[in-house]
Amino acid sequence: MAKVISENIGAYYHHYPRLAIIVTAQAKGRENAMAVAWHTAISFSPSLYGISISPKRFTYQLIVNSKEFGVNFLPFEQAELVASVGGSKGEEIDKFHQFDIAKDKPVKTAVPILKDAYAAYECKLIDDKGYGDHRLLVGEIVAVHLLKEAFAPEETLDLAKVSPVFYLGSERYATVSRETVKHLDREVYGKR
Ligand SMILES: Cc1cc2nc3c(=O)[nH]c(=O)nc-3n(C[C@H](O)[C@H](O)[C@H](O)COP(=O)(O)O)c2cc1C
Repeated sequence: MAKVISENIGAYYHHYPRLAIIVTAQAKGRENAMAVAWHTAISFSPSLYGISISPKRFTYQLIVNSKEFGVNFLPFEQAELVASVGGSKGEEIDKFHQFDIAKDKPVKTAVPILKDAYAAYECKLIDDKGYGDHRLLVGEIVAVHLLKEAFAPEETLDLAKVSPVFYLGSERYATVSRETVKHLDREVYGKR
């Protein structure tokens, strides 16, 4: 089938599905959580993680104030929570109270860590740059919280235990199952 050239680039969603995560932050006695689909690992050494968020988000103000943020990876059973924190404004409500979000204690920062996350990073903000209508916030990972049993010995997510939350766009969510996993060794496949 032939592809067409789109007349309208506009808001582009062709790079979805993306893992939908919850970014947490706190400052001056206020804490908050928001859904984020635009996020990426940036570097191993030091361990850097990037999130792209609009400066309109209440979470952005908290991160700029405290210079810290949390990155929380949730199982598919928590997809509704992702939609809830992504559909409400911390300026108007206390999301932790409203959505009854359970927390774990952070160890290196003051950011809230979500109890239901199978993995979470505490990050110290090291860079904040504007690109178009979003800001790329880069954090150094200073602590990693892990649900040990969610990961196989080779440190890949064990899909028999945890299904991650993928966001397709247009308020649609999906996950992946263990049956779809293919083990394709790059050393073998790179030499074919
Ligand atoms: C699945 C999903 C993914 C989202 N991804 C992003 C994102 O990557 N960057 C962003 O700025 N907003 C994103 N949003 C929107 C924010 O989560 C939303 O505006 C939220 O209400 C902001 O909360 P706050 O104002 O309390 O910080 C996303 C929303 C949803 C539902």
